[in-house]
Amino acid sequence: MTGDVFIVTIDGPSGSGKGTVSRALADHLSWHLLDSGALYRLAALAAERRRIPHADATALASLAATMNASLSFRNGVEWATLDGDDVSDALRSERCGELASRIAAVPGVRHALLDRQRAFARPPGLVADGRDMGTVVFPAAQVKVFLTASSEERALRRHKQLKEKGIDVSLRSLSEDIGQRDERDAGRRLSPLRAANDAQVIDSTRLSPEEVTARILPLLEAAGIGPNRA
Ligand code: C5P
Repeated sequence: MTGDVFIVTIDGPSGSGKGTVSRALADHLSWHLLDSGALYRLAALAAERRRIPHADATALASLAATMNASLSFRNGVEWATLDGDDVSDALRSERCGELASRIAAVPGVRHALLDRQRAFARPPGLVADGRDMGTVVFPAAQVKVFLTASSEERALRRHKQLKEKGIDVSLRSLSEDIGQRDERDAGRRLSPLRAANDAQVIDSTRLSPEEVTARILPLLEAAGIGPNRA
């Protein structure tokens, strides 16, 4: 527990299903939810708007610390603002994910976003979704899960999601993008994507989000966590 707050971390690569599963858990527990990837996406969007070059690590870090951004869930839908503008849709584009993954490798940006991420930890509890939730941001979390899935399955899932939104991207280019992003996320020096030593690793390749959630609930019970428990 961090202070009076129970924390469950769900880490994993893009398309592992962590977003869907984190929402389902936060809903089930009536807890707060942190989509940490959205904070990196917001920082990327802010940098693009201000035309800050990727090489300017100092300006990027300072922007990540001071950007006027908000992130919340309303009736299960993520809502994000930047300088008062609704940027919820812009945030979900592949391009924004790509930019986010680039600036996420800048140590000053990661450091600047630590406080913003930790501010989401409010009673009774938080489900934190990301890449380094269990290793760096919330190392004392009671339950840590690391979700994996084959790269083919992850590309198929992203393809389906984008198609549902009317965005037409070839499966092949998506697979390549996912591969490059995985490499960058796992290869960066600071907070690389990896399972915490005390995380439960779940391979979701052949599991539905409901089946993954059903495997996590007993872990919560074992840690004394249940719906409406404070
Ligand atoms: O999860 P999502 O695709 O929204 O994340 C966008 C990018 O932000 C990731 O590819 C990753 O590089 C970065 N990220 C990170 N650490 C996190 C969450 C996201 O480095 N905790």
